[in-house]
Amino acid sequence: LVLVLDFGSQFGQLIARRVRELNVFCQVVRHDITAARVRELNPKGIILSGGPASVYEPGAPQIDPAIFDLGIPVLGICYGMQLACRALGATVGGAESREYGRATLTVSDADTLFRGFPVESTVWMSHGDQVQNLASADFVPLATTDTCPYAAVRHRTRPVYGIQFHPEVSHTVHGGLVLRNFLIDACGCRGLWKMQTFIDRTVEEVRARVGNKRVICGLSGGVDSSVCAALLLKAIGPQVACIYVDNGLMREGETEVVKHTFRDWFKADLHAVDARDRFLSELKGVTDPQEKRKIIGRVFIDVFKHEAKAIPDAHFLAQGTLYPDVIESGGSKDGPAATIKLHHNVGGLPAELGFELIEPLRDLFKDEVRRLGTDLGLPDEVVWRHPFPGPGLAVRCLGEVTEEKLATLRKADTIFLDELHKSGWYRKTSQAFAVLLPVQSVGVMGDGRTYENTVAIRCVQTDDFMTADWSRLPEDLLARVATGIINRVKGVNRVVYDISSKPPATIEWE
Ligand code: XMP
Repeated sequence: LVLVLDFGSQFGQLIARRVRELNVFCQVVRHDITAARVRELNPKGIILSGGPASVYEPGAPQIDPAIFDLGIPVLGICYGMQLACRALGATVGGAESREYGRATLTVSDADTLFRGFPVESTVWMSHGDQVQNLASADFVPLATTDTCPYAAVRHRTRPVYGIQFHPEVSHTVHGGLVLRNFLIDACGCRGLWKMQTFIDRTVEEVRARVGNKRVICGLSGGVDSSVCAALLLKAIGPQVACIYVDNGLMREGETEVVKHTFRDWFKADLHAVDARDRFLSELKGVTDPQEKRKIIGRVFIDVFKHEAKAIPDAHFLAQGTLYPDVIESGGSKDGPAATIKLHHNVGGLPAELGFELIEPLRDLFKDEVRRLGTDLGLPDEVVWRHPFPGPGLAVRCLGEVTEEKLATLRKADTIFLDELHKSGWYRKTSQAFAVLLPVQSVGVMGDGRTYENTVAIRCVQTDDFMTADWSRLPEDLLARVATGIINRVKGVNRVVYDISSKPPATIEWE
């Protein structure tokens, strides 16, 4: 076990993930954990994260200084380095010039931390403060950048290391190597941790917490809720009741996949509620996008609540919240991370439902959840599914939503996605879909003039869905999609490809 003490960095969980990528088990904990508790947990190493504060400001997050006396190797990153150095006698102050972005690191001492490093390499910096004076302290400088004389240091007698740059971000070219050297060489970790270990530990935790009570698990058809359900089913199988609401706004075949996967394969107690008519009738005549969203959200909660009541003794509600959802919607419960994004789409269920929440995926990133899903036996079709918005096809059917328009959109969407799958492009892109526009235009088919609908196709690449670029799909693939849709979907005579990036456009059209 390695502990990451979180000082409110945006990168706390990212550090943990990099550590896990090196097959070392890692947990993020609050920065004010006591030395006694650390001794109990008995980690092989401790990493102090970065953070937005200045170590010398009043109220800046601190660390129990007795942690440095435990003899456990410590690696301080950015703020963590400044804190460690200051605690052990160095001085920290504002740097003459702040350093943000790429910098060239020159290594002067290739012992432990920099073993195998080139003398010069690119690192990612993000700091206004830095360690200014080591004179009174027992630190050895290990590396510099143009503006940072102590870009890396180690203590002379204690196993304490500090690096001012961020090894966890991909722009730091050999970031993985610094972490590896710290974990394997300085801490003596062996690198044998696997996803299976996470599964075993979570299964145990869930069993201990739930006892013999029942858990409701909402299924949306997406990756996160499916993996969450699969994990719970593994832990406490018959105590789980899954609720899936068919709102009539799903894509072709989606409801069937959910039923087949959970009912037939996992033998889950699946409550698939057919609420298609209710949603469509409430949406009748509504054209405003926000209004549509509100109605869908309200009806969903209503239907879900009603179904949940029918499950006796349900005490817990499981949700597939991931780590990025946690930061995006306002800070992790275990740390002071500043809110960096305002999330508009946590279509979560309200607390008034009165359940205790279980969020077993809270520490994981999307790609880790996918790995977990595969390990739990979910089919690729579910594990690799692109994200799909809560309001479903309603926000891709511009203007009023009708059964007929939905049917047209579904056909076009299926043709597009099939072509992406066949050409291997589905996995190379982040999200892809068709949109039915409320625009008719003139065309010619056979000898006749047509006046029919337009379908837009949208395909984007993105890491975090906050910004996105349109995918450069091959022209012949686009041509096949266009021909397929126009030939096979009645009522459509024109297909356009959306080449807008986000921002200024959004990914969805409504
Ligand atoms: P936008 O369109 O804002 O979308 O660029 C970013 C990501 O969020 C999804 N999205 C939603 N998800 N409820 C959801 O659950 C919503 O109302 C909603 N609106 C957008 C969108 O599909 C994309 O992945």
